Amino acid sequence: MPSHCLVTGVAGFIGSALAEELLARGNSVLGVDCFSDYYARELKEWNLRELRVQAGFSFQDADLRTADLASLLEGATVVFHFAAQPGVRKSWGPEFAGYVENNVVATQRLLEAVKGRALTRFVYASSSSVYGDAPDLPVRESTLPRPISPYGVTKLAAEHLCGLYARSFDVPTVSLRYFTVYGPRQRPDMAFSQFVRAIREDREIVIYGDGEQTRDFTYIKDAVAAALQAAQVDLSTPWGRVYNIGGGSRVSVNRVIRLLETMTGKTARINAQPAQPGDARHTSADCSAAAADLGYRPQVTLEAGLQEMVAGGRE
Ligand code: NAD
Ligand code: UGA
Repeated sequence: MPSHCLVTGVAGFIGSALAEELLARGNSVLGVDCFSDYYARELKEWNLRELRVQAGFSFQDADLRTADLASLLEGATVVFHFAAQPGVRKSWGPEFAGYVENNVVATQRLLEAVKGRALTRFVYASSSSVYGDAPDLPVRESTLPRPISPYGVTKLAAEHLCGLYARSFDVPTVSLRYFTVYGPRQRPDMAFSQFVRAIREDREIVIYGDGEQTRDFTYIKDAVAAALQAAQVDLSTPWGRVYNIGGGSRVSVNRVIRLLETMTGKTARINAQPAQPGDARHTSADCSAAAADLGYRPQVTLEAGLQEMVAGGRE
């Protein structure tokens, strides 16, 4: 049955793609975003352009740290909480305060505001960064989370808040631990977006470390499908569960560069920079819990997803 959904972070990479899919399925969406200055507002406006013309969509330029959340939640039965201060490598030093405010304090405010409301689901965008450098791969949800970046600490704290409000107040939270999401409109700081633009413009590609680090890269359509499944499936309590959402294969950064060279017919020029504090060496998701409970199965191979970025307009 169509729902009225609140999508936070709707002007962002994942939030905008999610809102588009919700509307395509007949739901109505109130999208909220404060256009944080982590990257250019014009890119976020671009993300919103197809949403703004749709009858089922409305938008509020509001900051979750200060907004009147009760009015934003009016009539909503499903909340997708995707607003955050992202970025693993930039979360050190004085920036950390912003990560705490936007990722932890804002999430706690939102959970307080939904307490006691007739929600059917509260889907939180958690992160593979909660695991840090896990000793055994692929990680399962039972792996002890030990973030190695301040960003990961804040994502884990917010995930714990979702669990806490589920147990104490029956808020129907589900947290999705997304593994490095990519695809058209990816955030401009992220690897694939940087690589595709650099190759297109014949600029050097910056690689951190030896490039042999691996990621379980997840295509945006699969990430969106997981959020919809998490909102819709008839999950039994207890609420507060967490699920790994990965792309189904683990690939090194060097391998991605080779694939891009083949796809574009160009030779990448590499600018090797030191490995960055906060970057996990490898990530790899065991998605069997999401498969069993949510019906999640990633559909898009890395080659197909990368091709979409190479062929597309704004990566
Ligand atoms: P994004 O930066 O493109 O989108 C996040 C949006 O949230 C931005 O448009 C920003 O303006 C907004 N926002 C930030 N603080 C806000 C606040 N206080 N009030 C209102 N809006 C606010 O990032 P993304 O890559 O789309 O990530 C979306 C979510 O998924 C985040 O929670 C992120 O931590 C999580 N996640 C992303 C990835 C990934 O690979 N992109 C992986 C794991 C988890
Ligand atoms: C991504 C997102 O940025 C986080 O918001 C998210 O929470 C996280 O995934 C996650 O999975 O939880 P990251 O894996 O660092 O973080 O994603 P990318 O920025 O795409 O980087 C992938 C790899 O490429 C990293 O090893 C990074 O060091 C490397 N990289 C990145 C480069 O070598 N060069 C670049 O210019 C950018």
